[in-house]
Amino acid sequence: MNILVVDDEPAQRNLLAGFLQKQGHSVKTAGSGRDAIELNKHNTFDLVILDLKMPELDGVETMAQMKKIDPMTYFIILTGYGTVESAVQAMKIGAYDYLNKPINLDELEIIIARINEEKGLHQELNLLRDEIKEIFPTDSFIAQSKKMKEILKIVNRVAKSDAAVLILGESGTGKEMIARLIHQMSPRKDRQFVPISCAALPETLLESELFGYEKGAFTGAEKRRYGKFELAHQGTLFLDEIGDLPLSTQVKLLRVLQEFTFERLGSNTPIKVNVRLISATNQDLKKKIARGKFREDLYYRLNVININIPPLRQRREDIPVLAEYFLKKFSQRSHKEIKGITPDALKRLVRYDWPGNIRELENVIERAVVLCPGDYITIKEIPLEWHTEEESGSLAEMEKVHIKKILEKTGWNLSEAAKILGIHRNTLRAKIKEYDIK
Ligand SMILES: Nc1ncnc2c1ncn2[C@@H]1O[C@H](COP(=O)(O)OP(=O)(O)OP(=O)(O)O)[C@@H](O)[C@H]1O
Ligand SMILES: [Mg+2]
Repeated sequence: MNILVVDDEPAQRNLLAGFLQKQGHSVKTAGSGRDAIELNKHNTFDLVILDLKMPELDGVETMAQMKKIDPMTYFIILTGYGTVESAVQAMKIGAYDYLNKPINLDELEIIIARINEEKGLHQELNLLRDEIKEIFPTDSFIAQSKKMKEILKIVNRVAKSDAAVLILGESGTGKEMIARLIHQMSPRKDRQFVPISCAALPETLLESELFGYEKGAFTGAEKRRYGKFELAHQGTLFLDEIGDLPLSTQVKLLRVLQEFTFERLGSNTPIKVNVRLISATNQDLKKKIARGKFREDLYYRLNVININIPPLRQRREDIPVLAEYFLKKFSQRSHKEIKGITPDALKRLVRYDWPGNIRELENVIERAVVLCPGDYITIKEIPLEWHTEEESGSLAEMEKVHIKKILEKTGWNLSEAAKILGIHRNTLRAKIKEYDIK
C-alpha cells in the first residue's frame, strides 16, 4: 500500500514509517497538515495515518481537505489521551479508525490488514464472478461469505434432482433468487418457472390459481383457465410465502403432492403433471405446526431438502460486494459514472444490521446513486434516519471503551482519569453511570 504518515513529532513519524516500511509498504512522511496536502496533490495514497493534534492545521481539518482531493483514501487518526471528544469528531467526519498513543503496532497491523482486505475487494469480485459463472448460469448472484458459498454448493447439488426444496429466510434474503437459480441449473431449465404467492390471494382465488377451473365452474368463470400446476408441467412451481397457506388449502395441496394429480375446479377429470416443487417462507413453520396452524405431514412433503438463508447481518462479508454490484447496476441504469463508495460510507453499510436484508441494501444503494452529485457515494447519500442512530450508537460505544481503558490505567483514580480525559470529574461520574462501566 501507499501510505502517508503525518505527525509533527519526528520520532513518532520515523517510528511509524520504519515499521510500515518493514511490512513492505511504500511510505512517505509529512511534518504538518500543509505538507501532507501538498504531497497529496501529486501522489495517491491508499492510507493516511494522521496525528490529530498538530500546530496550525490539525488532523481533522487536514483530513477534510485531503478528502476533497481523494475521497477514496483511508484515514487512521492518532489521538493522545484527553482527546476522546476529538477522536469522536474525527470518526464523525469520516476517519476509518483511530489509535491511541502510545501506538500499539499490533493494533495498527490489524487495521491495515482489514483495509487491505477491503481494497482487494474489487479484483476479488471479478474473480469470484468468474468462479460462480463457471458453475452457475448467472453473474447476478453474489456470494462472498462462506455461508453463501456453502448454500451455492447445496444449490448445485439439489438442482440435478427433483426433490422438493424448502427455502427459509427473513424477508429480502434472496429466497426467490435461490429458487430461480435451482430451476436454471436443473434439467428443467428450458421449461417454465412458475411462481405463486400464497399470501397475496384469498382462499378460493388461491385454489383456482393453483388448480385452474372450467368454464362455468363458478359465477364469473367465463372460460377455462389453466392453473399454476398445469403451467409448471415439466418445469418448476415456486410456492412463495407457504406459511400463509390456509389450512383447508394445505389439505388439498397435500393430496395433490402425493400423486401430482388433481382436477380443475368444476371438473372431474384428473390431470397428472410432472412438477418440481420449491417453496419458501420467512415464517417459523415449526412454531406454526406446534400451534396447529400448519400441517406437519405437508411440512415433511415440502421439506425434503432444506435451505436456510442467513440474514445479511450474519454474513457481513457479502455487504461490500453486494454494494459494489448494486452500485454498478444502478449507475449504468441511470447513466451515471459513479466510481465507488468512500471507505467511511462503506464501513457504515457494513455495520448496519439490515432488517430488510438484501432488498433494503439494494434500495439504499439505488437511492444513493440517484442522489449522488459526484464521483463517489459518501456518507451524505446514505439515509440519515438510520445512519445517525447507528453512528451515535457506535460512537458512544467507542467513548465507553476509551473511558474504561483510562480508568483501568489509572486504577480507577477518578481525578486522574478525568484529567487525562480532559473532562470534569462530575462529567466522568455521569458517564460511568450512563455507560454502566464497572
Ligand atoms: N445473492 C444475491 N446477489 C444479488 N442480488 C441478490 C442476492 N440475493 C438477493 N438479491 C436481490 O435482493 C432482492 C430480494 O431478493 P428476493 O426477492 O429473492 O428475496 P426474498 O427472500 O424472496 O424476499 P421476500 O421474503 O421479501 O419475498 C432482489 O432484488 C434480489 O435480486
Ligand atoms: Mg420473495
